[in-house]
Amino acid sequence: MRIISIANQKGGCGKTTTAVNLSACLANKGRKVLLIDMDPQGHSALHLNINPDEQSKTVSDVLGISGSRATSLDEVMLGIGKNFHMAPSNISLSTLDQHLSMVQGRETRLKESIDSLYQAFDYIIIDCPPSLGLLTFNSLLASTEVIVPIEMSLFSLHGIGRLMEILGLVQEKTGHKLKINAVATMYDSRTRISKEVLNDIRDNFKGSMYKTVINLNVKLKEAASFGKSILDYQKRARGFTDYMALANEVVKEEKHLGMELVKQNKAFSKIEKQFVFHAPDAISVKIVGSFNNWTLSEESTMERDQEGKWSKRLLLDPGKYEYKFLVNDIWIEDKRNPNLSDNAFGGKNSVIEIV
Ligand SMILES: Nc1ncnc2c1ncn2[C@@H]1O[C@H](COP(=O)(O)OP(=O)(O)O)[C@@H](O)[C@H]1O
Ligand SMILES: [Mg+2]
Repeated sequence: MRIISIANQKGGCGKTTTAVNLSACLANKGRKVLLIDMDPQGHSALHLNINPDEQSKTVSDVLGISGSRATSLDEVMLGIGKNFHMAPSNISLSTLDQHLSMVQGRETRLKESIDSLYQAFDYIIIDCPPSLGLLTFNSLLASTEVIVPIEMSLFSLHGIGRLMEILGLVQEKTGHKLKINAVATMYDSRTRISKEVLNDIRDNFKGSMYKTVINLNVKLKEAASFGKSILDYQKRARGFTDYMALANEVVKEEKHLGMELVKQNKAFSKIEKQFVFHAPDAISVKIVGSFNNWTLSEESTMERDQEGKWSKRLLLDPGKYEYKFLVNDIWIEDKRNPNLSDNAFGGKNSVIEIV
């Protein structure tokens, strides 16, 4: 299992974009991937259309912020797509320093929780916060590798020295070498500054740098705002080609590392799917389908937000399902889903396929 922290204390250099899209591309290449968000801002979750504030359990519970430390990572992780899970975080993680200030072994909490997942994933990708505090330290101590995204701007190399010091400290503490690779992000071939900074980074990192350069591509920003990876948003985009190339480079290293891929893991094969129905005036909206044998239960009740959007998340095994919404006791198909099939009552059912 490779455990890769995406770290750089500079905000806005492409950590989250790299963590999310590299994870999605690795999963697409058949690797079993868990993305862990270690940033209290919860950007990784938002990038994948998960509301970090709506989760009953998050990484904070795993690290033991809310008292007892009985929560394991697999209680927190959500299925995003085939081979792809994520463990979300929210603002509650920002108090880790405070809560654990006197606790022995506070730097190795993430490492311990990952140890129990050994053999479940090929890759664990950790999205680090923009700081060098306890959260980043926990991430680095748990990692076997670090990817340092560096954006092409004037001051982007400023602070890299401090990051390298911390990485040195981690290596001393763990006694094992961390593989470090820089990756150039937001490269704009039209500007001189991009070319100059790229040359500077290549000088600085020498061989410890991925050949792939991530170009500036507005589709990457758009994908994030739509809550999708670039793979699900637009495969024609330059951003997709770039992150796929990076994933290819990462996968190529497996042979050299002597890595063995994990076999199919049944335990984590369920995928979480969110169903949404917009009906501000409805009194009740429920979801019923072949996944719950078309029967009403606790599972079918949807929750309304302030704007009148009713939603429900269901954990589903891979397969094909038919479903409908029951809006004030009237059957209605999913307006946001164009896939329909004829049902036995002369009407239509919505159809969803989980792969
Ligand atoms: N290659 C890119 N091209 C265009 N926009 C990008 C690119 N990489 C990141 N961004 C955008 O820049 C902003 C900061 O990126 P982000 O990945 O959130 O950085 P960090 O996690 O290091 O703070 C986000 O709005 C993101 O969508
Ligand atoms: Mg981020």
